[in-house]
Amino acid sequence: MNKKGARSKVETIGVITPGGDAPGMNPAVRAVVRTAIFNNLKVFGIYCGWRGLIEGKVKDLELNSVSGIINQGGTMLHTCRTPEFKEKALRQKAMDVLRAYKIDALVVIGGDGSLRAAHQLFKDFKLPVIHVPASIDNDICGTDYSIGFDTAVNTAVEAIDKIRDTASSHERIFVVEVMGRHNGHIALDVGLVAGAEAILVPEIKYNIEDIAKKLKYGKQRGKNSFIIVVAEGVAQGTHIAKELKELIDADIRVSVLGHMQRGGSPSALSRETACKLGAHAVELLLQGKSAMMVGLVSDKVVSNPMESVIKRKRKLDMDAYKLAEVLAG
Ligand code: F6P
Repeated sequence: MNKKGARSKVETIGVITPGGDAPGMNPAVRAVVRTAIFNNLKVFGIYCGWRGLIEGKVKDLELNSVSGIINQGGTMLHTCRTPEFKEKALRQKAMDVLRAYKIDALVVIGGDGSLRAAHQLFKDFKLPVIHVPASIDNDICGTDYSIGFDTAVNTAVEAIDKIRDTASSHERIFVVEVMGRHNGHIALDVGLVAGAEAILVPEIKYNIEDIAKKLKYGKQRGKNSFIIVVAEGVAQGTHIAKELKELIDADIRVSVLGHMQRGGSPSALSRETACKLGAHAVELLLQGKSAMMVGLVSDKVVSNPMESVIKRKRKLDMDAYKLAEVLAG
């Protein structure tokens, strides 16, 4: 019986942070470990993602194992991309390691790829597994925010505010390329709050002539510098700059923000999401739940079946996209 009185067979859990890291993963690991220990569960940390699990990189964690990490970006468990985890033989090896350590259930903290892998483990072996969404891409349904998204947006906005200083001093156009894989969620949020003159996202086909026209009109109105935010899923920033140079006589520079968007101390919102979702993941296991993903929707902690989350694609917020266009002037 756990402290909440619900019955559950789970006595030992594992926690893993596979795939791309995200700022806020450490507060989430901390929440999982401390909630588990509070409920008299044993906890093992699985290091270096799915490959680490296959190789048996497993270490037991105590309360103080997760001290001093709430403000640290990255993941204390480390990670590595393991595309070969698609092979069932390797998933079987992973399951053998979990059994060797008598791990009854798994909390997976990660993005879309980790969610699919976690669900496959459940389907293959009926392993009790709960997913905590953590990805700067924010491309997972069932939660308003994936852990790390808010921090990445803040990092990019801070960078663009700095770029804007030099852009206006030199009266330049800057094309700023942001991450987001095949989605425009980062680009849209960053573009809106950084006041970008144009935002290019994979979800909407762009017209370079229209962008050039808009920049020329802005110049006529006395604007002397411009920021264009491009999601990496649209094109490389250098490509957009090259297209623009054929249409506008201006000094056009490119800044690729890259992996800095994945680092840094997690924001308060990323930490809050991590604390609440990490804890809730353990509570679901204690209630005997499995194959669920936890999320934060309108500030409420929720959970959805992994299957239903995987089936859906998170749509771009078109109201925000239109608002950004209006406010860009
Ligand atoms: O999924 C998070 C992400 O940062 C994407 O936005 C980006 O395209 C990708 O990871 C980069 O992957 P890697 O760190 O393996 O180069």
